[in-house]
Amino acid sequence: MSLSEKLLEYFSESTEFVSGEELAKMNNVSRNAVWKAVKQLKSSGYDIISEKSGYRLSESNSRPLLCELRRKTNCENIIMLDLTESTNDYAKSLALNGAEEKTAVFALGQSKGKGRLGRSFVSNKGGLYFSVVLRPRLSADEIMLITVAAAVAVCKALRNAVNKDFLIKWVNDIYLSDKKVCGILTEGSFNAETASLEYAVLGIGVNLASVEEKLPDELKQTVGSVFENENVSSKIYSDIASDIYNGFFKYYSNIKDRSFMEYYKSHSYLDGKTVSFLKDGKPHTALVLGITDNAGIILKEGNTETVLNAGEVSVKPI
Ligand code: BTN
Repeated sequence: MSLSEKLLEYFSESTEFVSGEELAKMNNVSRNAVWKAVKQLKSSGYDIISEKSGYRLSESNSRPLLCELRRKTNCENIIMLDLTESTNDYAKSLALNGAEEKTAVFALGQSKGKGRLGRSFVSNKGGLYFSVVLRPRLSADEIMLITVAAAVAVCKALRNAVNKDFLIKWVNDIYLSDKKVCGILTEGSFNAETASLEYAVLGIGVNLASVEEKLPDELKQTVGSVFENENVSSKIYSDIASDIYNGFFKYYSNIKDRSFMEYYKSHSYLDGKTVSFLKDGKPHTALVLGITDNAGIILKEGNTETVLNAGEVSVKPI
């Protein structure tokens, strides 16, 4: 571990000022080395307060701390990147190279964030973007349970953080006050010979800080953020990230029990709404009656009830 990393770890665990001399002694280096490391940390964006009595991390530091994430998730196999094209793609390449289950890739921004159905996911700085490597023993039909469990973990973590009601728009979006604040994308690689999943990558993107100003015009009406301010502290970032990560893995360890399904059903954003969707290439309009135990959506079109198990419905007319 570099001296800068050791200092960050110390700062993240203490709220008191600590003198350069003490830090130097602790790490067996000179005071000058400490001073240089602090200077380097500040120039990388960490908000460190320097006073006569020493240094400490500001409560409003907004640059996330990797050591804090590792501590709160109890997982060392986490990397954090300033910018990457897509954490899902990065995690896939790690999975292909044998990365263990639970390995996670976090990024402060993504230049080619991916959404479902080939769409892009706007991933400006100020959001929480991460992907985890999974090696599930699930059939192709059961892979959607990963997304469903993750949606519940996200809703609960966000509710814990801000005490507001987050709802799930079937299948994979989280809404707050009629605006999407989170998207989830699970991608899997199947082995055709064994007809089983070789690995899956679960990717979660949450708009934490206020995003409106940076959004393209066409998204301003539909995309929102968890917080109204532009900066979210590193503590809140790691609390939410670790809550999602830990909550998801709690469900994942017994995923076939579907213990998360009741919450998923009772927090459905679409219940009672009229939605439109495409079926066999044709536009349909239907009323949403609810969600099944298999996470399908129950629709009523005229007098006919149907269940869609995959796909997408929209509250806007197609
Ligand atoms: C959607 O809204 O359709 C799904 C969006 C999923 C976005 C997350 S951000 C982290 C991970 N990396 C990606 O490229 N996509 C997912």
